[in-house]
Amino acid sequence: MSERVSTHGQWSSRFAFVLAATGSAVGLGNIWKFPYITGENGGGAFVLVYLVCIALVGIPIMMAEILIGRRGRASPINTMRMLARDENRHGIWQVVGWSGVVAGFIIISYYSVIAGWGLAYVFRSAAGVFNGVDAAAAKSIFDGLVLDPEKLLAWHTIFMVMTTIVVSRGVRSGLEQAVRVLMPALFVILLLLVGYAMNTGRFMEGVAFLFKPDFGALSAGGVLTAMGHAFFTLSLGMGAIMVYGSYLPKDASIARTSITIAVIDTLVALLAGLAIFPVVFANGLEAANGPSLIFNTLPLAFGHMPWGAFFGTLFFILLVFAAWTSAISLIEPAVAWLVENQGINRVKASTLVGVVAWLLGIVTIMSFSRWRFEFNFAGEKKTTGLFDVFDILTANFMLPLGGLAMALFAGWFMSRQSVVEELGMGDRVGFRLWYYVVRYVTPVAVVVVFLQLIGVIDIKDWK
Ligand code: TRP
Repeated sequence: MSERVSTHGQWSSRFAFVLAATGSAVGLGNIWKFPYITGENGGGAFVLVYLVCIALVGIPIMMAEILIGRRGRASPINTMRMLARDENRHGIWQVVGWSGVVAGFIIISYYSVIAGWGLAYVFRSAAGVFNGVDAAAAKSIFDGLVLDPEKLLAWHTIFMVMTTIVVSRGVRSGLEQAVRVLMPALFVILLLLVGYAMNTGRFMEGVAFLFKPDFGALSAGGVLTAMGHAFFTLSLGMGAIMVYGSYLPKDASIARTSITIAVIDTLVALLAGLAIFPVVFANGLEAANGPSLIFNTLPLAFGHMPWGAFFGTLFFILLVFAAWTSAISLIEPAVAWLVENQGINRVKASTLVGVVAWLLGIVTIMSFSRWRFEFNFAGEKKTTGLFDVFDILTANFMLPLGGLAMALFAGWFMSRQSVVEELGMGDRVGFRLWYYVVRYVTPVAVVVVFLQLIGVIDIKDWK
Protein backbone atom coordinates (compact mmCIF):
# COMPACT_ATOMS: atom_id res chain seq x y z
CA MET A 1 0.00 0.00 0.00
CA SER A 2 1.37 3.41 -0.87
CA GLU A 3 1.65 5.71 2.08
CA ARG A 4 -1.05 8.27 2.68
CA VAL A 5 -0.39 11.97 3.15
CA SER A 6 -2.54 14.18 5.37
CA THR A 7 -4.24 17.08 3.60
CA HIS A 8 -3.75 19.15 6.74
CA GLY A 9 0.05 19.00 6.79
CA GLN A 10 2.50 17.37 9.21
CA TRP A 11 4.35 18.15 12.44
CA SER A 12 7.88 19.38 11.82
CA SER A 13 9.36 16.58 13.94
CA ARG A 14 8.61 13.93 16.52
CA PHE A 15 9.37 16.51 19.18
CA ALA A 16 6.75 18.87 17.80
CA PHE A 17 4.22 16.08 18.12
CA VAL A 18 5.29 15.32 21.69
CA LEU A 19 4.80 18.98 22.54
CA ALA A 20 1.39 19.16 20.89
CA ALA A 21 0.17 15.90 22.41
CA THR A 22 1.49 16.92 25.83
CA GLY A 23 -0.29 20.23 25.37
CA SER A 24 -3.46 18.30 24.69
CA ALA A 25 -3.01 15.96 27.63
CA VAL A 26 -1.97 18.46 30.29
CA GLY A 27 -4.88 20.74 31.07
CA LEU A 28 -7.78 21.28 33.42
CA GLY A 29 -7.95 17.52 33.82
CA ASN A 30 -4.67 17.52 35.72
CA ILE A 31 -4.98 20.64 37.80
CA TRP A 32 -8.71 21.13 38.29
CA LYS A 33 -10.35 17.74 37.82
CA PHE A 34 -7.82 15.29 39.26
CA PRO A 35 -7.73 16.95 42.71
CA TYR A 36 -11.48 17.32 43.03
CA ILE A 37 -12.40 13.80 41.94
CA THR A 38 -9.62 12.43 44.15
CA GLY A 39 -11.16 14.39 47.02
CA GLU A 40 -14.65 13.11 46.24
CA ASN A 41 -13.51 9.50 46.01
CA GLY A 42 -11.55 9.21 49.21
CA GLY A 43 -7.94 9.69 48.06
CA GLY A 44 -5.28 6.95 47.98
CA ALA A 45 -7.21 3.97 46.65
CA PHE A 46 -8.66 6.11 43.89
CA VAL A 47 -5.20 7.42 42.96
CA LEU A 48 -3.84 3.88 42.87
CA VAL A 49 -6.56 2.66 40.52
CA TYR A 50 -6.01 5.73 38.37
CA LEU A 51 -2.25 5.05 38.14
CA VAL A 52 -2.82 1.40 37.25
CA CYS A 53 -5.25 2.50 34.54
CA ILE A 54 -2.71 4.95 33.10
CA ALA A 55 -0.19 2.13 32.77
CA LEU A 56 -2.38 -0.77 31.64
CA VAL A 57 -5.10 1.03 29.74
CA GLY A 58 -3.92 4.55 28.94
CA ILE A 59 -0.47 3.97 27.46
CA PRO A 60 -1.45 0.94 25.33
CA ILE A 61 -4.52 2.72 23.98
CA MET A 62 -2.53 5.86 23.28
CA MET A 63 -0.17 3.79 21.14
CA ALA A 64 -3.13 2.21 19.36
CA GLU A 65 -4.77 5.59 18.78
CA ILE A 66 -1.60 7.17 17.39
CA LEU A 67 -0.84 4.24 15.11
CA ILE A 68 -4.37 4.21 13.73
CA GLY A 69 -4.18 7.96 13.15
CA ARG A 70 -0.84 7.85 11.42
CA ARG A 71 -1.91 5.01 9.17
CA GLY A 72 -5.14 6.74 8.15
CA ARG A 73 -3.73 10.28 7.90
CA ALA A 74 -7.18 11.87 7.99
CA SER A 75 -9.89 12.98 10.43
CA PRO A 76 -10.87 10.15 12.81
CA ILE A 77 -14.13 9.51 10.94
CA ASN A 78 -12.38 9.07 7.59
CA THR A 79 -9.42 7.29 9.13
CA MET A 80 -11.64 4.64 10.69
CA ARG A 81 -13.61 4.25 7.47
CA MET A 82 -10.49 3.88 5.30
CA LEU A 83 -8.64 1.54 7.64
CA ALA A 84 -11.73 -0.65 8.02
CA ARG A 85 -11.83 -0.89 4.22
CA ASP A 86 -8.08 -1.59 3.95
CA GLU A 87 -8.42 -4.40 6.46
CA ASN A 88 -11.64 -5.74 4.87
CA ARG A 89 -13.71 -4.90 7.91
CA HIS A 90 -17.23 -3.57 8.23
CA GLY A 91 -17.81 0.16 7.70
CA ILE A 92 -19.48 0.36 11.10
CA TRP A 93 -16.03 1.12 12.57
CA GLN A 94 -16.41 4.73 11.53
CA VAL A 95 -18.90 5.05 14.40
CA VAL A 96 -15.78 5.35 16.57
CA GLY A 97 -14.99 8.58 14.74
CA TRP A 98 -18.52 9.91 15.01
CA SER A 99 -18.85 9.16 18.66
CA GLY A 100 -15.55 10.96 19.17
CA VAL A 101 -16.82 14.07 17.43
CA VAL A 102 -19.93 14.09 19.63
CA ALA A 103 -17.88 13.53 22.79
CA GLY A 104 -15.55 16.34 21.71
CA PHE A 105 -18.46 18.76 21.39
CA ILE A 106 -19.83 17.89 24.79
CA ILE A 107 -16.44 18.09 26.50
CA ILE A 108 -15.36 21.37 24.92
CA SER A 109 -18.71 22.93 25.84
CA TYR A 110 -18.09 22.56 29.57
CA TYR A 111 -14.30 22.67 29.38
CA SER A 112 -14.52 26.19 28.01
CA VAL A 113 -16.75 27.31 30.88
CA ILE A 114 -14.27 26.00 33.46
CA ALA A 115 -11.36 27.57 31.56
CA GLY A 116 -13.42 30.75 31.85
CA TRP A 117 -13.23 30.43 35.64
CA GLY A 118 -9.46 30.35 35.22
CA LEU A 119 -9.56 33.50 33.08
CA ALA A 120 -11.67 35.29 35.67
CA TYR A 121 -9.15 34.29 38.34
CA VAL A 122 -6.26 35.78 36.37
CA PHE A 123 -7.83 39.18 36.84
CA ARG A 124 -9.00 38.65 40.40
CA SER A 125 -5.52 37.56 41.36
CA ALA A 126 -3.84 40.47 39.58
CA ALA A 127 -6.17 42.91 41.30
CA GLY A 128 -4.96 41.60 44.67
CA VAL A 129 -8.40 40.28 45.62
CA PHE A 130 -6.88 37.22 47.30
CA ASN A 131 -4.47 39.05 49.58
CA GLY A 132 -4.96 37.75 53.11
CA VAL A 133 -8.27 35.97 52.38
CA ASP A 134 -9.69 33.30 54.66
CA ALA A 135 -11.69 30.27 53.55
CA ALA A 136 -15.04 32.05 53.80
CA ALA A 137 -13.85 34.98 51.71
CA ALA A 138 -12.37 32.66 49.08
CA LYS A 139 -15.68 30.85 48.86
CA SER A 140 -17.68 34.03 48.47
CA ILE A 141 -15.34 35.24 45.69
CA PHE A 142 -15.96 31.96 43.87
CA ASP A 143 -19.71 32.01 44.44
CA GLY A 144 -19.85 35.55 43.14
CA LEU A 145 -18.55 34.14 39.88
CA VAL A 146 -20.37 30.85 39.38
CA LEU A 147 -23.74 32.08 40.54
CA ASP A 148 -23.64 34.85 37.94
CA PRO A 149 -24.45 33.40 34.51
CA GLU A 150 -23.65 36.65 32.73
CA LYS A 151 -20.08 36.71 34.00
CA LEU A 152 -19.63 33.05 33.14
CA LEU A 153 -20.98 33.65 29.67
CA ALA A 154 -18.54 36.48 29.08
CA TRP A 155 -15.49 34.41 30.08
CA HIS A 156 -16.75 31.33 28.24
CA THR A 157 -17.16 33.45 25.11
CA ILE A 158 -13.62 34.78 25.33
CA PHE A 159 -12.15 31.33 25.78
CA MET A 160 -14.19 29.84 22.94
CA VAL A 161 -13.06 32.63 20.61
CA MET A 162 -9.42 32.05 21.62
CA THR A 163 -9.77 28.35 20.84
CA THR A 164 -11.52 28.88 17.55
CA ILE A 165 -8.88 31.33 16.36
CA VAL A 166 -6.02 28.87 16.90
CA VAL A 167 -7.86 26.00 15.24
CA SER A 168 -8.86 28.15 12.27
CA ARG A 169 -5.19 28.92 11.62
CA GLY A 170 -4.18 25.27 11.76
CA VAL A 171 -3.07 23.58 14.94
CA ARG A 172 0.61 23.66 14.13
CA SER A 173 1.45 27.33 14.03
CA GLY A 174 2.35 28.63 17.43
CA LEU A 175 1.46 25.51 19.36
CA GLU A 176 5.01 24.24 19.42
CA GLN A 177 6.56 27.40 20.86
CA ALA A 178 3.72 27.93 23.29
CA VAL A 179 3.97 24.46 24.81
CA ARG A 180 7.77 24.53 24.88
CA VAL A 181 7.78 27.59 27.14
CA LEU A 182 4.59 27.12 29.08
CA MET A 183 4.90 23.51 30.22
CA PRO A 184 8.17 24.07 32.08
CA ALA A 185 6.79 27.28 33.56
CA LEU A 186 3.68 25.48 34.78
CA PHE A 187 5.89 22.81 36.29
CA VAL A 188 7.96 25.39 38.18
CA ILE A 189 4.97 27.19 39.59
CA LEU A 190 3.44 23.91 40.72
CA LEU A 191 6.70 23.15 42.53
CA LEU A 192 6.44 26.54 44.19
CA LEU A 193 2.91 25.70 45.35
CA VAL A 194 4.09 22.35 46.67
CA GLY A 195 6.77 24.31 48.55
CA TYR A 196 4.06 26.45 50.09
CA ALA A 197 2.06 23.33 50.95
CA MET A 198 5.09 21.95 52.80
CA ASN A 199 4.91 24.95 55.11
CA THR A 200 1.27 24.54 56.04
CA GLY A 201 2.14 22.01 58.72
CA ARG A 202 -0.27 19.52 57.16
CA PHE A 203 1.86 18.36 54.25
CA MET A 204 2.19 14.77 55.42
CA GLU A 205 -1.56 14.55 55.84
CA GLY A 206 -1.90 15.53 52.20
CA VAL A 207 0.70 12.95 51.16
CA ALA A 208 -1.08 10.25 53.14
CA PHE A 209 -4.43 11.22 51.66
CA LEU A 210 -3.03 10.85 48.13
CA PHE A 211 -0.86 7.79 48.53
CA LYS A 212 -2.23 5.68 51.39
CA PRO A 213 -4.91 3.48 49.84
CA ASP A 214 -8.07 2.96 51.84
CA PHE A 215 -10.21 0.71 49.70
CA GLY A 216 -13.15 1.15 52.03
CA ALA A 217 -13.41 4.73 50.77
CA LEU A 218 -13.66 3.73 47.12
CA SER A 219 -17.02 2.89 45.57
CA ALA A 220 -17.70 0.99 42.34
CA GLY A 221 -18.54 4.31 40.72
CA GLY A 222 -15.22 5.64 42.02
CA VAL A 223 -13.35 2.85 40.22
CA LEU A 224 -15.10 3.82 36.98
CA THR A 225 -14.31 7.49 37.57
CA ALA A 226 -10.63 6.62 38.08
CA MET A 227 -10.52 4.71 34.81
CA GLY A 228 -12.53 7.38 32.99
CA HIS A 229 -10.10 9.98 34.20
CA ALA A 230 -7.17 8.02 32.77
CA PHE A 231 -8.82 8.50 29.38
CA PHE A 232 -9.76 12.09 29.99
CA THR A 233 -6.38 13.23 31.25
CA LEU A 234 -4.50 11.58 28.35
CA SER A 235 -7.06 12.88 25.82
CA LEU A 236 -7.88 9.34 24.73
CA GLY A 237 -10.89 7.65 23.23
CA MET A 238 -12.36 10.47 21.13
CA GLY A 239 -9.92 10.93 18.28
CA ALA A 240 -7.94 13.93 19.55
CA ILE A 241 -4.75 11.92 19.76
CA MET A 242 -5.71 10.06 16.57
CA VAL A 243 -5.96 13.29 14.60
CA TYR A 244 -2.67 14.53 16.07
CA GLY A 245 -1.18 11.15 15.16
CA SER A 246 -2.33 11.67 11.59
CA TYR A 247 0.11 14.59 11.36
CA LEU A 248 3.01 12.55 12.79
CA PRO A 249 6.07 11.91 10.63
CA LYS A 250 6.60 8.31 9.64
CA ASP A 251 9.89 7.71 11.44
CA ALA A 252 8.83 8.80 14.93
CA SER A 253 8.68 6.17 17.68
CA ILE A 254 5.11 5.80 18.88
CA ALA A 255 5.98 3.80 22.00
CA ARG A 256 8.55 6.23 23.37
CA THR A 257 6.33 9.16 22.59
CA SER A 258 3.33 7.69 24.42
CA ILE A 259 5.30 6.87 27.53
CA THR A 260 6.83 10.36 27.64
CA ILE A 261 3.44 12.02 27.41
CA ALA A 262 1.88 9.78 30.06
CA VAL A 263 4.74 10.37 32.49
CA ILE A 264 4.65 14.17 32.15
CA ASP A 265 0.88 14.20 32.44
CA THR A 266 0.89 12.07 35.58
CA LEU A 267 3.59 14.15 37.24
CA VAL A 268 1.60 17.33 36.71
CA ALA A 269 -1.52 15.79 38.24
CA LEU A 270 0.33 14.43 41.27
CA LEU A 271 2.05 17.77 41.85
CA ALA A 272 -1.32 19.51 41.72
CA GLY A 273 -2.63 17.05 44.31
CA LEU A 274 0.38 17.64 46.56
CA ALA A 275 -0.11 21.39 46.28
CA ILE A 276 -3.79 21.36 47.09
CA PHE A 277 -4.63 18.81 49.79
CA PRO A 278 -2.31 20.16 52.49
CA VAL A 279 -3.96 23.56 52.01
CA VAL A 280 -7.37 21.90 52.21
CA PHE A 281 -6.53 20.24 55.53
CA ALA A 282 -4.72 23.23 57.00
CA ASN A 283 -7.79 25.38 56.45
CA GLY A 284 -10.34 22.88 57.67
CA LEU A 285 -11.91 22.57 54.21
CA GLU A 286 -13.77 19.60 52.84
CA ALA A 287 -11.74 17.40 50.40
CA ALA A 288 -14.98 16.30 48.74
CA ASN A 289 -15.80 19.86 47.78
CA GLY A 290 -16.46 19.12 44.11
CA PRO A 291 -15.54 21.21 41.06
CA SER A 292 -14.90 24.33 43.14
CA LEU A 293 -12.03 22.68 45.05
CA ILE A 294 -8.98 24.39 43.55
CA PHE A 295 -10.79 27.70 43.26
CA ASN A 296 -11.57 27.63 46.95
CA THR A 297 -8.13 26.52 48.08
CA LEU A 298 -5.46 28.05 45.85
CA PRO A 299 -6.51 31.65 46.64
CA LEU A 300 -5.70 30.80 50.28
CA ALA A 301 -2.18 29.77 49.27
CA PHE A 302 -1.63 32.78 47.02
CA GLY A 303 -3.26 35.08 49.54
CA HIS A 304 -0.69 34.22 52.19
CA MET A 305 2.62 33.72 50.38
CA PRO A 306 5.09 36.48 49.56
CA TRP A 307 4.49 37.84 46.08
CA GLY A 308 1.21 35.92 46.13
CA ALA A 309 -0.67 38.22 43.76
CA PHE A 310 2.13 37.92 41.22
CA PHE A 311 2.47 34.14 41.44
CA GLY A 312 -1.28 33.72 41.52
CA THR A 313 -1.70 35.72 38.34
CA LEU A 314 1.05 33.75 36.66
CA PHE A 315 -0.45 30.47 37.81
CA PHE A 316 -3.90 31.22 36.42
CA ILE A 317 -2.41 32.48 33.15
CA LEU A 318 -0.55 29.18 32.80
CA LEU A 319 -3.68 27.24 33.73
CA VAL A 320 -5.60 29.01 30.97
CA PHE A 321 -2.81 28.28 28.49
CA ALA A 322 -2.78 24.62 29.47
CA ALA A 323 -6.56 24.54 28.98
CA TRP A 324 -6.20 26.30 25.64
CA THR A 325 -3.71 23.78 24.22
CA SER A 326 -6.10 21.02 25.33
CA ALA A 327 -9.24 22.65 23.98
CA ILE A 328 -7.92 22.93 20.45
CA SER A 329 -7.43 19.17 20.31
CA LEU A 330 -11.07 18.68 21.31
CA ILE A 331 -12.44 20.39 18.22
CA GLU A 332 -9.72 19.49 15.72
CA PRO A 333 -11.34 16.11 14.77
CA ALA A 334 -14.65 17.79 13.87
CA VAL A 335 -12.91 20.60 12.00
CA ALA A 336 -10.69 18.20 10.04
CA TRP A 337 -13.75 16.20 9.02
CA LEU A 338 -15.66 19.30 7.88
CA VAL A 339 -12.69 20.39 5.77
CA GLU A 340 -12.27 16.95 4.22
CA ASN A 341 -15.89 16.07 3.57
CA GLN A 342 -17.85 19.29 3.32
CA GLY A 343 -15.36 21.17 1.22
CA ILE A 344 -15.31 24.25 3.46
CA ASN A 345 -12.13 25.98 4.56
CA ARG A 346 -10.62 25.81 8.03
CA VAL A 347 -11.82 29.23 9.06
CA LYS A 348 -15.45 28.47 8.28
CA ALA A 349 -15.22 24.98 9.74
CA SER A 350 -13.72 26.20 13.03
CA THR A 351 -16.24 29.01 13.32
CA LEU A 352 -19.11 26.62 12.82
CA VAL A 353 -17.79 24.18 15.39
CA GLY A 354 -16.97 27.01 17.79
CA VAL A 355 -20.48 28.47 17.61
CA VAL A 356 -22.18 25.12 18.23
CA ALA A 357 -19.87 24.38 21.18
CA TRP A 358 -20.41 27.89 22.54
CA LEU A 359 -24.19 27.44 22.49
CA LEU A 360 -23.94 24.07 24.21
CA GLY A 361 -21.74 25.69 26.86
CA ILE A 362 -24.71 27.72 28.05
CA VAL A 363 -26.17 24.52 29.48
CA THR A 364 -23.13 24.14 31.72
CA ILE A 365 -23.21 27.79 32.73
CA MET A 366 -26.81 27.49 33.86
CA SER A 367 -26.24 24.24 35.68
CA PHE A 368 -24.27 26.02 38.41
CA SER A 369 -27.16 28.29 39.29
CA ARG A 370 -30.66 28.11 37.79
CA TRP A 371 -30.86 24.72 36.09
CA ARG A 372 -30.38 22.31 38.94
CA PHE A 373 -32.49 19.33 39.80
CA GLU A 374 -32.91 17.10 42.80
CA PHE A 375 -32.93 13.36 42.65
CA ASN A 376 -32.66 10.36 44.91
CA PHE A 377 -29.54 8.30 44.65
CA ALA A 378 -29.40 5.18 46.79
CA GLY A 379 -31.67 6.82 49.33
CA GLU A 380 -29.62 10.02 49.38
CA LYS A 381 -30.96 13.33 48.12
CA LYS A 382 -28.62 14.96 45.67
CA THR A 383 -28.86 18.05 43.56
CA THR A 384 -27.04 18.23 40.32
CA GLY A 385 -26.96 19.98 36.99
CA LEU A 386 -26.44 18.92 33.44
CA PHE A 387 -22.73 19.69 33.79
CA ASP A 388 -22.32 16.56 35.90
CA VAL A 389 -24.32 14.57 33.38
CA PHE A 390 -22.10 15.79 30.54
CA ASP A 391 -18.98 15.01 32.50
CA ILE A 392 -20.01 11.50 33.54
CA LEU A 393 -21.44 10.62 30.13
CA THR A 394 -18.25 11.57 28.31
CA ALA A 395 -15.40 10.78 30.71
CA ASN A 396 -16.86 7.66 32.25
CA PHE A 397 -18.67 6.15 29.28
CA MET A 398 -17.96 7.59 25.84
CA LEU A 399 -14.17 7.82 26.19
CA PRO A 400 -13.64 4.34 27.69
CA LEU A 401 -15.94 2.77 25.08
CA GLY A 402 -14.23 4.68 22.26
CA GLY A 403 -10.83 3.65 23.60
CA LEU A 404 -11.94 0.05 23.96
CA ALA A 405 -13.04 0.04 20.33
CA MET A 406 -9.66 1.43 19.24
CA ALA A 407 -7.81 -1.21 21.27
CA LEU A 408 -9.94 -3.96 19.74
CA PHE A 409 -9.49 -2.54 16.25
CA ALA A 410 -5.70 -2.38 16.51
CA GLY A 411 -5.44 -5.66 18.42
CA TRP A 412 -7.92 -7.87 16.61
CA PHE A 413 -9.22 -6.26 13.44
CA MET A 414 -6.09 -4.86 11.80
CA SER A 415 -3.67 -7.43 10.48
CA ARG A 416 -0.68 -8.10 12.66
CA GLN A 417 1.48 -7.10 9.74
CA SER A 418 -0.12 -3.64 9.39
CA VAL A 419 0.31 -3.01 13.08
CA VAL A 420 3.95 -4.13 13.16
CA GLU A 421 4.68 -1.99 10.13
CA GLU A 422 3.03 1.12 11.54
CA LEU A 423 4.53 0.91 15.03
CA GLY A 424 7.93 0.49 13.46
CA MET A 425 9.53 -1.23 16.43
CA GLY A 426 9.98 -4.59 14.72
CA ASP A 427 8.38 -7.81 15.90
CA ARG A 428 10.44 -8.10 19.07
CA VAL A 429 9.87 -8.09 22.82
CA GLY A 430 8.59 -4.52 23.08
CA PHE A 431 6.09 -5.03 20.33
CA ARG A 432 4.92 -8.38 21.64
CA LEU A 433 4.40 -7.01 25.11
CA TRP A 434 2.27 -4.16 23.80
CA TYR A 435 0.35 -6.45 21.45
CA TYR A 436 -0.50 -8.82 24.25
CA VAL A 437 -1.60 -6.01 26.54
CA VAL A 438 -3.72 -4.25 23.93
CA ARG A 439 -5.40 -7.50 22.83
CA TYR A 440 -6.10 -9.00 26.23
CA VAL A 441 -5.23 -6.92 29.27
CA THR A 442 -6.65 -3.55 28.22
CA PRO A 443 -10.03 -4.79 26.93
CA VAL A 444 -10.50 -7.08 29.91
CA ALA A 445 -9.63 -4.26 32.31
CA VAL A 446 -12.18 -1.92 30.73
CA VAL A 447 -14.88 -4.58 30.71
CA VAL A 448 -14.15 -5.56 34.32
CA VAL A 449 -14.57 -1.95 35.44
CA PHE A 450 -17.98 -1.79 33.77
CA LEU A 451 -19.05 -5.15 35.17
CA GLN A 452 -18.16 -4.18 38.71
CA LEU A 453 -20.16 -1.00 38.23
CA ILE A 454 -23.35 -2.86 37.47
CA GLY A 455 -22.60 -5.24 40.32
CA VAL A 456 -21.86 -8.39 38.33
CA ILE A 457 -18.51 -8.70 40.04
CA ASP A 458 -16.93 -7.07 43.06
CA ILE A 459 -13.25 -6.35 42.53
CA LYS A 460 -12.78 -5.48 46.16
CA ASP A 461 -13.08 -9.19 46.88
CA TRP A 462 -9.89 -9.70 44.90
CA LYS A 463 -7.56 -8.14 47.44
N1 TRP B 1 -6.62 15.93 28.48
C1 TRP B 1 -7.14 17.24 28.68
C2 TRP B 1 -7.06 17.57 30.16
O1 TRP B 1 -6.70 16.74 30.94
C3 TRP B 1 -8.55 17.40 28.15
C4 TRP B 1 -8.69 16.91 26.75
C5 TRP B 1 -8.14 17.45 25.63
C6 TRP B 1 -9.39 15.76 26.36
N2 TRP B 1 -8.45 16.69 24.56
C7 TRP B 1 -9.21 15.65 24.96
C8 TRP B 1 -10.12 14.82 27.04
C9 TRP B 1 -9.77 14.58 24.27
C10 TRP B 1 -10.69 13.76 26.35
C11 TRP B 1 -10.50 13.63 24.97
O2 TRP B 1 -7.38 18.65 30.56
